[in-house]
Amino acid sequence: MNIGFIGLGTMGYHLAGYLSKSTHNITVYNRNENKAQKWLSEYTGSKALTISDLAKECEVIFTCVGNDNDLNEVILEVLKTARPNTIIVDHTTTSFQMAKHANNLCNKNNCSFIDAPISGGEQGAINGNVTIMAGGKDKIFEQIKPLLSFYSNSIVLMGDNGYGQLTKMVNQICIAGILQGLSEGLSLAKKANLDIDKLVNTLKNGAAGSWQLENRAKTMSKNQFDFGFKIDWMRKDLGFCLDYAKQNNLELPLTKQVDEHYELLQNEGFNLMDTSVLIKQFDK
Ligand SMILES: NC(=O)c1ccc[n+]([C@@H]2O[C@H](COP(=O)([O-])OP(=O)(O)OC[C@H]3O[C@@H](n4cnc5c(N)ncnc54)[C@H](OP(=O)(O)O)[C@@H]3O)[C@@H](O)[C@H]2O)c1
Repeated sequence: MNIGFIGLGTMGYHLAGYLSKSTHNITVYNRNENKAQKWLSEYTGSKALTISDLAKECEVIFTCVGNDNDLNEVILEVLKTARPNTIIVDHTTTSFQMAKHANNLCNKNNCSFIDAPISGGEQGAINGNVTIMAGGKDKIFEQIKPLLSFYSNSIVLMGDNGYGQLTKMVNQICIAGILQGLSEGLSLAKKANLDIDKLVNTLKNGAAGSWQLENRAKTMSKNQFDFGFKIDWMRKDLGFCLDYAKQNNLELPLTKQVDEHYELLQNEGFNLMDTSVLIKQFDK
């Protein structure tokens, strides 16, 4: 098969790398060509100079770009030259409406679309073990699942188009709440001079254990935030959650509060820092 991958950013770079280990031919495209060149120095494949050049050759096309507008631009470009029956698999975190819209655009051009947002952060992408929550048609999903298994052991079709993004919203809401709890807990621990290493080792196997506790508590207590999942992306995602909730007459008070803290932190210049920087609200 000829496979294309568009968007070699923090996540896409590694995911495309895992696909290059398959027996398929992989062609990559990145808007800033230098990243595609760097990718080619590390992995086997070829690079396309334009999205339309990539699209005309590929049966399956992966995308991992920034936000709704970026995905819209990329899909419109792909569809200019895509062959009928091309499958587009999107790993971007977008709104529910965007996933529906992308699917409609693809269907009008006799192509298929799967929204397949991911969780696990850059480390998950590097390790080839992101969690994938997908939305789309069963038959199409089954065709691309073997490709996804190159970088995931947890690939679930959650429902029709858009259900992958709805699941990702729940993921982000839970992360926001966990990080707020962790920020408060660690602030108390610091005030009380508790040994943080001992604390994490004690709590991790109990009911308060979480990925965030195990992977972020120590760095949070050392004021290290220059890595990981940036606030700018988290605010985009929480915006999708709050918009969807509003449209469906649902209140999300904690998500709203955490989003407001992130907005303040963005304004203070922490926008590219990891979401665990939420603890800074207690720096007084
Ligand atoms: N980072 C994480 O830990 C993480 C975890 C889970 C999900 N996600 C989600 O995954 C997506 C990608 O995240 P990332 O961290 O990999 O982002 P990133 O490092 O900023 O990379 C974004 C990639 O998309 C390309 N791109 C953006 N807009 C484009 C456009 N209009 N046309 C063509 N290419 C475009 C960029 O190209 P250039 O290089 O030319 O800018 C870059 O290759 C986001 O939706 C994010 O919310 C991220």
